[in-house]
Amino acid sequence: MTVASMEIPLVDLKAQYRAIKDEVRTAIDGVLESMQLTIGPNVRAFDDEFAAYCGTKHSVGVGSGTDALHLALRALGVGVGDEVITVSFTFFATVEAILYANARPVMVDIDERTFNVDLAAVERALTPKTKAIIPVHLYGRTADLTPLLKLADSSGIPVLEDAAQAHGAYQDDGKRKAGASGRMGAFSFYCSKNLGAYGEGGSITTDDDGLAATLRSLREHGQRTRYEHPIVGHNARLDEIQAAVLRIKLRRLEQWNDARRARGARYNELLAGSGVITPELPAGKRHVMYAYVIRVPGGRRDALRAHLAEKGIGTQIHYPIPIHLQEAARSLGHKPGDLPVTERLAGEVLSIPMYPELTDVQQQYVADHIRRFMAF
Ligand SMILES: Cc1ncc(COP(=O)(O)O)c(C=O)c1O
Repeated sequence: MTVASMEIPLVDLKAQYRAIKDEVRTAIDGVLESMQLTIGPNVRAFDDEFAAYCGTKHSVGVGSGTDALHLALRALGVGVGDEVITVSFTFFATVEAILYANARPVMVDIDERTFNVDLAAVERALTPKTKAIIPVHLYGRTADLTPLLKLADSSGIPVLEDAAQAHGAYQDDGKRKAGASGRMGAFSFYCSKNLGAYGEGGSITTDDDGLAATLRSLREHGQRTRYEHPIVGHNARLDEIQAAVLRIKLRRLEQWNDARRARGARYNELLAGSGVITPELPAGKRHVMYAYVIRVPGGRRDALRAHLAEKGIGTQIHYPIPIHLQEAARSLGHKPGDLPVTERLAGEVLSIPMYPELTDVQQQYVADHIRRFMAF
């Protein structure tokens, strides 16, 4: 049977926009009419609403997820001579933020089943210089924080969750949301994220009043009151237009996450026995499927990707070059083979189309073409 050809993007932001267009335009118009363009009523309301959503006392809206990680490290007092343990299998910004803070990133390997940090590797990497640990909730699945927090707490080391890809995901205990278990959580609202702005945005969540006050100061040039600067901060504000958009989208986030999860479960069924390795959807956690990532064994990933591109199917590799092997990280002295699981997975992973509006017919088309390719 021949299947009619289709164009299916990796992410379809226009489909989402069509559903909320009128509301978004009215909200943006409201901001423009008020001409209050930086931290104002929408940022303050969004901070409250996002904190309530995550189950934390505070959320501090900032300019990006990178700002969120950087400011969080600064608020913890991380600086020259300190080490921060994280993974190499992540977006570059996780490690970049550690370098912004003038600390040394100590990158460890991951668990190949979960794509998340390997606890034993963290334990081995701890030194008296370790000042923070950043687990990354990659692809929308939270890292196993219960044992990690136990280890960190016993050493008095704060955990900063990189929750840039995990808005609304649940922790291992099925209760705490991403960003609510560590000392702080850092979120990105980059446009393609589960909760995405129409530009840039980020937030830091925390239960700690002191850290929240420092973060609010750091996002606005270190000011205490207007033009009074006890510390050097950053221009890292979330702007009013983005906050107004995020407030509208936040009200739909649960529904969109459910739709992503349903599509993830359906892909898993459609691809069972196809020869690709599909992601786990563990019962106790709520994986929010920021990306639906298959593993293509046997060195066939790039050929499958090319085959899907020919059929009009958008894909991406998250991420092809591990951070420890990036040119920009050369001064850290890593070499191929240092993080074997990370390096192997970088050659196997493939993200296929995933967004809440993805239709059954589109999913069937994607799965059929994967199955056909893998059958040869
Ligand atoms: C895991 C991870 N950390 C950090 C970031 C940085 O966020 P942003 O692009 O908003 O600066 C991203 C986003 O792309 C990310 O995926």
